[in-house]
Amino acid sequence: MNKTIKTATFATTIGMILATAGSAVGLGNIWRFPTMTGENGGAAFIFIYMIFNVVIGLVGMMAEFIVGRSGGANSVTAYAKAGRELADGKVRKYGELWGIFGALGGLGTALILSFYSVIAGWCVYYLYKALKGEVLGSPEEIEATFGALVSTDYSWICCLLAILFTASTYFIVARGIEKGIEKASKLMVPLLFILLIILSVASCMLPGAGKGLEFLLMPDISKVTWKTVYEAMSHSFFSLSLGIACLCTYASYMKKDINLAKAAVQIACIDIGVAIIAGFMIFPAAFSVGVSPDSGPSLIFLTLPNVFTNAFPSTIGYCIAVLFYFLLVLAALTSTISMLEVGTVVIEQKLRLSRSVAAAIVTLFCCVMGSLCSLSFAYPEIGLAGTTFFDNCDYITAKFMLPIGGFFTAILVGWLMPKEKVINELASHGTVNVKPLHVNIFFFLLRFVCPICVAVIFIGQLI
Ligand code: TRP
Repeated sequence: MNKTIKTATFATTIGMILATAGSAVGLGNIWRFPTMTGENGGAAFIFIYMIFNVVIGLVGMMAEFIVGRSGGANSVTAYAKAGRELADGKVRKYGELWGIFGALGGLGTALILSFYSVIAGWCVYYLYKALKGEVLGSPEEIEATFGALVSTDYSWICCLLAILFTASTYFIVARGIEKGIEKASKLMVPLLFILLIILSVASCMLPGAGKGLEFLLMPDISKVTWKTVYEAMSHSFFSLSLGIACLCTYASYMKKDINLAKAAVQIACIDIGVAIIAGFMIFPAAFSVGVSPDSGPSLIFLTLPNVFTNAFPSTIGYCIAVLFYFLLVLAALTSTISMLEVGTVVIEQKLRLSRSVAAAIVTLFCCVMGSLCSLSFAYPEIGLAGTTFFDNCDYITAKFMLPIGGFFTAILVGWLMPKEKVINELASHGTVNVKPLHVNIFFFLLRFVCPICVAVIFIGQLI
């Protein structure tokens, strides 16, 4: 009953890359990235976001991989182990307290799943509408469809869809991450990529798309505030699934000979690529039909149906709409699996419960929180501090938990773990040749650049 899923998972390197890329690529790229870009002034935001991905994101991913793979267990155990070990085989006093970050990871990923499932539910709704041929229409009709969705009349449907989505995630996670998911990812990620390219070309050809391209390509430095920098950093964490023990959990299923640096680069490239193409798909269309780029969470639901309607003959538009929402749902699912996985393995291994019971506990929590998130659009009184509960969950996780988790992971791996052990992981236990210069750059970024940048930007937005 109590067996872990270690041997069943990530049998192949490509399976590992795709599953981890499946976690990274999701609504964060196609929904959250355009939303953030739209609200933060376009190209300037993208530029800063890219810098964070390269300077902090890659190194942060490698640090989490190191904690996870050397720990070889759930995130609480892995962080505790990393915090305890000293170079000479002794143990650090109170080192196991680092396990708190593993536990926060389990909680944080569950909170992310709570609001993420609401958007995923909207995608399911749009898939249904697309199948019925009802997402196509005039800009006014398209706006009315979305308006109805978040109104009081439909709020219970949204709530049910969010629960349904979380439940689907449960069924996959409860069975272990099977070969099916790896195989499905192999087909889905490239297909999503191709479809995004087709849609972005179509979007760029709409009349008036030029303004959108300008918005994406011409940085307006005057728009850059501390908030822009902070949002770019926190989104970089969100999109890479970084700072909340998700990568650490996946890394515990990685074989010892996998080159962690190479894996991090490949996953980050896929992730950035999808986000940028999504930008080219959304903004030219938004400017073309007069949807404001800072429309917030509704942005992709307001612009894309216009692309489907206006850029293609009706049957082709119909097929593309169906395929697109289908892939969006699947992309969301490969991400939600990774969110549910973190808390599930912690509960499974720490409380010695079966995998299905452990997953059920986390799912139940996410369903309750997800319902509150989804109802908070129609009933704003559910939220705290003058915003919706949906925004509260997004805020607490993306703006606080991820950067804080990333900061402490950098401290742990950069300063506290025995250096030889970290180098041994980087060298994949002797199977990879790492140059001393690269090791030095890695340590420099991890010890100084990452913690200082994250701390300064984090504190800067508080004051
Ligand atoms: N990165 C995913 C996306 O872009 C979302 C995601 C999956 C995530 N697992 C995570 C975000 C863990 C933060 C932490 O859609």
